[in-house]
This record gives sequence, structure tokens and C-alpha cells, in this order.
Amino acid sequence: MSELLDIRGLAVRFPGARCLVQAVAGADLRLAEGECLGLVGESGCGKTQLLHSILGLSPPQAQIAGSIRYRGEEIVGLAPRALERIRGRRIAMVFQDPMTALNPCRRIGAQVGEVARVHLRASRAEAERRALSMLEAVQIADPQRCLRQYPHELSGGMRQRVMIAMALIGEPDVLLADEPTTALDVTVQAQILALLRDLRARTGAAVLMVTHDLGVIAEIADRVAVMYAGRIVEQAPVEVILSHPRHPYTEALQRCLPRVDQPPPQRLPSIPGRPPSPSALPPGCPFAPRCLYRMPMCDTQMPTLCEVSAAADGVRQTPQSQQSAPDVGGGRSSQGSRGTSQAQHLKACWHEGALGRLAPAPP
Ligand SMILES: Nc1ncnc2c1ncn2[C@@H]1O[C@H](COP(=O)(O)OP(=O)(O)O)[C@@H](O)[C@H]1O
Ligand code: SF4
Ligand SMILES: [Mg+2]
Repeated sequence: MSELLDIRGLAVRFPGARCLVQAVAGADLRLAEGECLGLVGESGCGKTQLLHSILGLSPPQAQIAGSIRYRGEEIVGLAPRALERIRGRRIAMVFQDPMTALNPCRRIGAQVGEVARVHLRASRAEAERRALSMLEAVQIADPQRCLRQYPHELSGGMRQRVMIAMALIGEPDVLLADEPTTALDVTVQAQILALLRDLRARTGAAVLMVTHDLGVIAEIADRVAVMYAGRIVEQAPVEVILSHPRHPYTEALQRCLPRVDQPPPQRLPSIPGRPPSPSALPPGCPFAPRCLYRMPMCDTQMPTLCEVSAAADGVRQTPQSQQSAPDVGGGRSSQGSRGTSQAQHLKACWHEGALGRLAPAPP
């Protein structure tokens, strides 16, 4: 699979009166043609800001650094006119809250059709025809009626379907979906996930799906990137993340999942402590205050994202992955090398290869 999006060292910072808020603090991410990458992490870790920076939607005061390449073309710093070629047409977004993303004063048909008029230069009649067929594709029960309705007349699930229709009408290569099912009840959530899976199979679009729910990830993603305090701390194919989480944060997230194969605990486990404030990130590993495996170097040095020995996960090690190892753990290679395999298991923790053998330190 070739890379559609290649994000390296991405930082999104907001200058404040007394401090700098680091919403994204040096994230590395790849999205391959046609794949579904799940981006998972707690509230406030920078998921939405990462997505917005891809589309140039960050607030004007945001300082963006690092690199975002779409099909090899640098997006960071692109002039607004040049960005318009990509935004909505090649990369489209489903926003977290359809009620605020849709214009409450305009009919659905006008809003969906407008995307076709702007991005596909469709005539008014052609735009209406495309809007109708898109509403059918997202399985709106009475699409003709829906065209004439206003957002407040639709249910939450229907509004989310309309958002997906608006995102896909320009026939993009990449769909960015920001927690598209968070506000929906579980039945509608399952329907929307099934719809996204179906549309992805039909259109071939790659999906970058943001969520804080590992259950959603298990349903839809091929690969998972785990985000903590503005950085990616672990990436691997979904079955590897769920069966062999290696970063202590991912392991802790997994411990918090309710299990159907075990008696229910009296209290669901949670990760003690809180994520660091993005305006006061520590010099070392940001997960250190909550980590069961913490050691002295964790407080002073930041581990970089490196390859975990893949054999234990049943993931084949690639020749690229065995190249230079400029890091501390031994037997690791930097993610920065070209030709990174989609099957690589990467994590940012000093305990290379040892986590399976380590017993958690007492809290
Ligand atoms: N306009 C802004 N000014 C200052 N800080 C912001 C702004 N927007 C977002 N942030 C901060 O950036 C961090 C990441 O936000 P966000 O990307 O929305 O998190 P997530 O989507 O993971 O919940 C949060 O701590 C948030 O408070
Ligand atoms: S680097 Fe240290 S504190 Fe961070 S996750 Fe690894 S063991 Fe825990
Ligand atoms: Mg968000």
C-alpha cells in the first residue's frame, strides 16, 4: 500500500498570555491508500487539533510546525487557494457534532448539493441529482423528503448520515472522521459504523477515524495509533494492539475495557491520575506519573517512537525495520526511515521488548 498521508513531527501550539499550549506535540502518523487507521486517546490529547491541522482548519492563532504530506505534496504552509484543491475534494471531514457543523437555516438538499457545486463544479440540477443519490447511498429512508428538510427536523443518526454524505459527495481519497458515533446511542452507532465500512469498500477511500472507544476501533480499523499528551505512543495493526498492547498506556486502556468472558468487577478499573496539561508538558515521558513501569530515566528523557521486536506479535519484520538503530533500547529502528511497513509495531517507551516479562511496579 502506498502512503496517502505522511505526517511527521507535527506540532500545533497556541500561544497564551503566560504559557504555550501544546495541543499536538510532535506526532508521527502515516495513512496508506484504502486503509482505515483508528486514532485513539483520552479527551484533550490532541486528536481533533491533529485532524484540523490536516485541513488547514486550525484557529488563526495556532502555530503549526512539522510536515503533513498528501500524496507527497506538503500541506503545511500551503496558500489558501492551493489548499482549496485538496480540502473537501481530496480530503474530507466528518465533524464530531453534526448539529453545529450543519447550517440550521438551510435545507439539507442545498447544503449537500453545495459541496458538489463547489468541488465538482456541478450545475444546480446535477448537484441536486448527486445530493439525492448520496442521501440514498447513506441509507436515508426518504431521501426526497430529507432534501427539503432542515437539520433540526432530523434525528442525530440522520444528521450524521447527512454529514457523511456531504463528506463523500466530492469523492475524496481520505475521509477524516472525528468521533462520528460518540453522540449516538449504541444501535445507531453500530449502523453508522456498518455504513462507513460499506462506503469505504465501495469508494476505496482511506479513513482516519478518531475515537476514544477501543470497541469502535475493533469494529472498523485495520491499524491503530494511540495518542497521549499530543504524541503518538504506539501504532500497530488492530489485532496486535488488542492482543499484545506494548505501551503501558495502551495496556492500561485495555485493562479498563469491560470483559464479557469474565465475571463483572465490582468497579470498572480506571487509569489513576490525569494526563498532563498541554501547557505544562513534562521534560520526560508524559505518561510517567501514571505508569506502573516508571523508572528514573522516564522523568528526564522522552522516548521516541521505535519499532518493537515484532516476532512476539507474529508480525513479520521488514528489511527496512532492521536498518540503523539510533536509539537507547537496542534492536530498534527509528520510524523515520522510508518504506515503513504498515504492519510494523511501533511504540514510545524505554522498555523495548521487556514489557511482557516485567511485573508492574507498585503504584
Ligand atoms: N483554540 C485553542 N486555544 C488554546 N488551546 C486549545 C484550543 N483548541 C484546543 N486547545 C487545547 O488543545 C488540547 C487538545 O484539544 P483537542 O484536539 O480538541 O483534544 P481531543 O480532540 O483529543 O479531545 C486541549 O487541551 C485543548 O484545551
Ligand atoms: S517511558 Fe517510562 S514512564 Fe513512559 S511509558 Fe515507558 S516505562 Fe512508562
Ligand atoms: Mg476531539
